[in-house]
This record gives sequence, C-alpha cells and structure tokens, in this order.
Amino acid sequence: MKRIGFVLLILAAFLNYRTSAQSPFREKYRPQFHFTPEKNWINDPNGLVFYGGEYHMFYQYNPYGNKWGHMSWGHAVSKDLVHWKELPVAIPEAPPLTIFSGSAVVDPFNTSGFVQKLGQVPMVAIYTADIPNSNQSQHIAYSLDSGRTFTKFNFNPVLDLEKKDFRDPKVFWHEPTKKWIMAVMWPHEKKVQFYNSKTLKAWTLLSEFGPAGDTSGIWECPDLFRVPIAGSPGKYKWVFMMSPAPYMQYFVGEFDGTKFINESATDKIYRPDYGPDYYAAIVYNNLPPGIAPVSIGWVNNWQYAGDIPAGEWRGAMSLPRSLSLKRVGAEWILLQNPADELASLKKKDVQLNAGQEIALEDQSFMLEWQWSANAAGVQEISLGDNELVISYNASTKEVGLDRSGSKGFDHAAYRSNSVYKTIFPGTPPANLKFRLYFDESIAELYVGDGEVAMTAQVFAGGPMNKIRFAPSGAGQALLYRDLEGYR
Ligand code: FRU
Repeated sequence: MKRIGFVLLILAAFLNYRTSAQSPFREKYRPQFHFTPEKNWINDPNGLVFYGGEYHMFYQYNPYGNKWGHMSWGHAVSKDLVHWKELPVAIPEAPPLTIFSGSAVVDPFNTSGFVQKLGQVPMVAIYTADIPNSNQSQHIAYSLDSGRTFTKFNFNPVLDLEKKDFRDPKVFWHEPTKKWIMAVMWPHEKKVQFYNSKTLKAWTLLSEFGPAGDTSGIWECPDLFRVPIAGSPGKYKWVFMMSPAPYMQYFVGEFDGTKFINESATDKIYRPDYGPDYYAAIVYNNLPPGIAPVSIGWVNNWQYAGDIPAGEWRGAMSLPRSLSLKRVGAEWILLQNPADELASLKKKDVQLNAGQEIALEDQSFMLEWQWSANAAGVQEISLGDNELVISYNASTKEVGLDRSGSKGFDHAAYRSNSVYKTIFPGTPPANLKFRLYFDESIAELYVGDGEVAMTAQVFAGGPMNKIRFAPSGAGQALLYRDLEGYR
C-alpha cells in the first residue's frame, strides 16, 4: 500500500513537472497578444469573416508539423479580435489537392443554393486547390454550422484556367451590382484578375490590373475593399492591396463594379507596412455596416519563415488593424491603427522620465512617446542590448527600424533584412506620436495617425527588459503600458 502511495507521488510529481516544463504558450519567443497556433506551422490569414458575433480567422496551416506543407485551413474564432479560441482544422487537404489561400463570405440570400433547411445561412469558403507543380484552380466549400465544419462542393473547381500559378481568390459582395466579385492573382505575370458571379459557382472575367508599382517579386494575395476617408463621414475610396513577395503594397482609386481605376502614382511604392515581416494581409468580410475595414497579416517573411527559432508552433498573426485613408498633398495614404479592442489589455500605465533605464516585468507591452519635429539629429529609442532600435530624423522625416543588433537568430536572410527606413508622408505635427507594441519576439510600430506602420520579428539574445530613451525636448516622456489578460 505504501509502495502504491509512493508510486502515485512520483507520478504526480512527474505530471506536475511535465505541465510546468511545457508551460503552454510561455515558451521562449512565443507572442502573447498576437495570435499563434498551439502547435504547428501557419502562414497567411484566410477567410477573415465576421458572422454571428464571431470574428473567424482561418489560416494556412500544416496539421502535421512546424514546417510548411500539407496545407489546410486552420481555424480560430474571437469575439473581440484580441482573445482567440483555436478550433479543429476547418478544411483539410485531400491529396493530391492541398488547400491554399482564399477568403470566406456569408451568403444570407442563398445565392449559392447550399441551404438545406429553412433558416440556415451558408458560409462559403473560396480557396485555391493546389496540385504541386501542375495546377491551381479555385474551389469552394460551404458550412451550415458557423464555420465549424465545411463540405467541399461536388462540382469543383469553379474556376480553372489550367494554369500552374493562379491563386488566392478574395471574394466579396458588391451591393451596387448585386454580384460577388473575385480578385485572384496571376503571380508571375504580376497582375490581378477580377471576376464576378451571381452564385459563387460560375465566374465571368471582368478586367485585369497590373503589373504596377512593386513588380520585383511574384504577386500574391490580392484584396479589394472600400475604405472611409478619415474626417469625411460618408466618403470612401477603394483600395487594392496585395503582396509582391516578400512585402506588401497598395493602390488607391475607384471600383466601378467592373474594373479598378488606380489613382496612386505607380513610380512610387506605397506599403501598408514598411518593415520586414508583414505579408498576405486581407480584410474582414461582412463587418457590421459603419465599421472601418479591419486587416490581419502574417508576421513573417518567406526568406526565413521556415527557420525562425520558434518551438512546436511556427508563425504568428499581426494585430488587427483598423483602416482609413488620408489625403496628403496629391497622395492617398492608408492609415492603420491597432483595433480599439486592444485597449482592453491595459494593466497599468507608467510614465518614465528622461533618460531613465527601466527593467520591465515582462516582454509584452506597449510604449508610446513623441518626437519633436524641430529636434536636430537622429532621435532614438532602443530595447534590450540595442537589439531593436527605432529612430526618427526630424530633418529628413525618416523613420527607422533596426534589428541588426538582435542576437537570437543567426540566419543570413534575417540578418540582411534588418534595417528598414521610410519617409513619413506630408508635414508631421510638432510632436510626432510613436506607438510600439512589443510582444516577446514581435515589434509592431505605428507612427503618427497610422501613416507609417513597421512590423519586425526581433529574436533577441537576452531579455528585452531594458529601454533606453533620451527625449529630445520638453513633454516627451515615455509611456510604458503594461499589458495583461491576453489569455
Ligand atoms: C502566400 C502564399 C499564397 C499561397 C499560400 C500557400 O504566402 O504563397 O500565394 O496560397 O501562401 O501556403
């Protein structure tokens, strides 16, 4: 009897050790308030759709490991865009077909005819089915239980040009023409095609756009959506946003139901994010009327994504970003700001003094400060052992992000993609606001009203619990916001 008690004691101690050693979601570099899967590989967000009070996030997912492969749609839901619940795989691969990127719509008028019983509302996923090195075509699958389970359409594909590369359909409802619109890429030709459909099952080619702007990499993951003009209620423009590998770009103009009419300069590149690690972002479909578009991107870069020093999990999503537009001179600038819901994570604000070095309690926090438009020289803030340096040169209006001092990931492409700079558009205010969300190994920087965003993974050699900040003028204290409650 004594013996059994002893064995049980050892067993209990072992189980206890196992749970604490594993500490789910507390591993090194594991982001806390950015979505990561419990385990395995993720890339692009797919099928972002709001339905029945839930924000659905599907994503490129490998159910079998932490490297890219076996692409399927993983699934998570959230009621507030901040707290996510991971659900079982929504659309699994069916070899030789794998399930590449795409979108999801809600079909309340049953245009697709998938309703089986009165009262049902189909959620329809439109994605690329990939047969490696042979064919990419567009398929659909439907769910009658709020995205929990999907049935693949019997007569797939719904759009097949017999091309090897033809992918990433983004579909949305266009009310003026009462049609579904699909934007879908020809990656190597660097162009997008627009199609329409009444049923989601048969598609008619409308027009094409591209090559334009950044044509150095293949074009992936298109999106076309209407964005409110900040400060002009009821006024909108259309934004065509996409991913010329390994970055992103956008164009602003109009969409007349048939074609995208670009109004942005094409000899200049406008990026939603000027850092190294922001890709494949798309916006939510079916948001309640009056809500500005919300985008989510993959925080990674294909040049080293497969090797980042993550654990059983690999890959993370950006913060949800609320989008609007601003006219700056003759240009349209996309404004991006973390969705308001993130404010719920505030534990406490601490005002830090000039030049103060502080030790942080943990490594998931927000820093907010202002830099003067009149200061001479370069103003800088650095984290850890200079592993991340954010800078601003008021005379050139250059915003900089430099992670070249980060010592936790020795990879040639990570190293050579470590210093990023961009010019703040227009005339900055006397005090330009900077917000830095730092989350274990992700830095997301928002400047001004969101005119500039920069996202970078920072794999530091040691703790990032040191901040060096030398204010350049009066009233430029640093606000440190401790965040909590993300799990
Ligand atoms: C973009 C992308 C898409 C493709 C998916 C495959 O990151 O290459 O074009 O559908 O990833 O996982």
